[in-house]
Amino acid sequence: MSSTETTKVKPREGFSSRKVFIFAAIGSAVGLGNIWRFPYVAYEGGGGAFIIPYLIALVFFGVPMLYLDYAIGHRFRGSAPLSLRRLHRGAEWLGWWQVLICIVIAVYYAAILAWASKYAALSFTKGWGSDPEKYFFGEYLKAADTPGPTFDFVPGILITMILVWAVTIGVLAMGIQTGIGRTAVVFIPVLVIAFVVLVIQSLTLEGAGAGLNAFFTPDWGALADSGVWISAVGQIFFSLSVGFGIMITYAGYVSRKTDMTGSGAVVAFSNSGFELLAGIGVFAALGFMAQAAGSEVGEVLGSGGIGLAFIAFPAIINEAPGGVVIGVLFFVSLVLAGITSLISIVEVVIGAVRDKVGISRTAATFVVGVPMAVVSILMFSTTGGLYVLDTMDAFVNSFGIIAVAAVLMLAITYAFRKLPILRQHLDAIGSIKLKGWWPALIAVVIPILLLVMLYQALTDKLDAPYEDYPAQLLNVFGWGMVVALPLIAIAISLLPWRGGVSLEDEPEALVDGGEQA
Ligand code: ALA
Repeated sequence: MSSTETTKVKPREGFSSRKVFIFAAIGSAVGLGNIWRFPYVAYEGGGGAFIIPYLIALVFFGVPMLYLDYAIGHRFRGSAPLSLRRLHRGAEWLGWWQVLICIVIAVYYAAILAWASKYAALSFTKGWGSDPEKYFFGEYLKAADTPGPTFDFVPGILITMILVWAVTIGVLAMGIQTGIGRTAVVFIPVLVIAFVVLVIQSLTLEGAGAGLNAFFTPDWGALADSGVWISAVGQIFFSLSVGFGIMITYAGYVSRKTDMTGSGAVVAFSNSGFELLAGIGVFAALGFMAQAAGSEVGEVLGSGGIGLAFIAFPAIINEAPGGVVIGVLFFVSLVLAGITSLISIVEVVIGAVRDKVGISRTAATFVVGVPMAVVSILMFSTTGGLYVLDTMDAFVNSFGIIAVAAVLMLAITYAFRKLPILRQHLDAIGSIKLKGWWPALIAVVIPILLLVMLYQALTDKLDAPYEDYPAQLLNVFGWGMVVALPLIAIAISLLPWRGGVSLEDEPEALVDGGEQA
């Protein structure tokens, strides 16, 4: 393929500057994964000792993977399927696989965001009452007694879900710069300020020190557990938004002269910085709770993500001096962090549909956004939504994201042999030069680890049904979903491109992106 830049096909939307791109990429990375998932994963993975696998996973897996995504999107300037189609004819389906993963994640991610929005409003009056656990499962979600999908709608969830989707679709309809870019430039600084205030407030609580001790005290033994290393890598992938098309899509909206490796380092370290900050804030608050309850920090942590945000935190807010401030800041942060991530996940789908069928941004936003919103609302504003959500989340993370990343790396290296041109592309402008370490990681080290992760996840989930859920639930929303995605992706890749985009290696100019450095 030639790398000519002279043939301009159709101008493409873009971010107006490197700064806006970095904000948007941080907006995508910093999400629910940072605030509610990281503290729990870190604690489970050995507390202070987890920092070691975490940092190793960041530097040797997360950042190289981020660079691979950037290289594909920036070099071939398209949505995930278009960029990969331009990279090699046989690679398009991998892009659709990523698009389908994004559809799955978006539909349930929006539900969690809807809960967080509701809780942001409730936190002004501590509206969950004196028993947050009973309120969350019984009164708010009205969770069915038996796990499985239902058609019993819960109006309280329905309304907030409509709101979350309306905002997401509205921002996306405004386009890359005006919608995604400006939202991130406004939301991310507000999020950082809100979160820093939250952390300071949490650190003043009695017992905060005990919480930080629990978080940072290293359990060195954990390092011998392969599961801890695997969860560090899984956390970095989800948290950095790498491997499922988002960063390919965003990189396609960045001017050709942008230093992608330097930008990637800023994004990755900002994301992890925020993650550590979240760990400190959450554990300081948990320390207070443990002290008030006269128990261990591990006991008040509960069962992880959902329990942490929607049960442990409301309980802390009920007891802590200044609890309302902590509550509002926590849930508003969750919403701000989550909405910029959801926007990026849905943009993967919109960008792909636009490229494939050649419709306007507004049309694509509605054609994609409205059906996704309807499916998401129908599935998750029901009394069975929680169980479906938990199943889809567990399976798409353990299998979908990891499998597509492994196949992509192996295919690009060995079947399509494009690693050298991707490296050349990043090195041409990048301030951080990739040298031989990057291909070695992408071609050998990371895929091997991902395959080990897949094997482990497979044996775990085959050994015992996930969460003891009924087979029907797991077979449809777990196994069925993960197996169906690549098959549907192959089918879509066989459909013709009708968008008038060039399938050759002929990147277009950006319209509002200009050619900024
Ligand atoms: N990167 C996003 C998160 O951490 C998806 O939630």
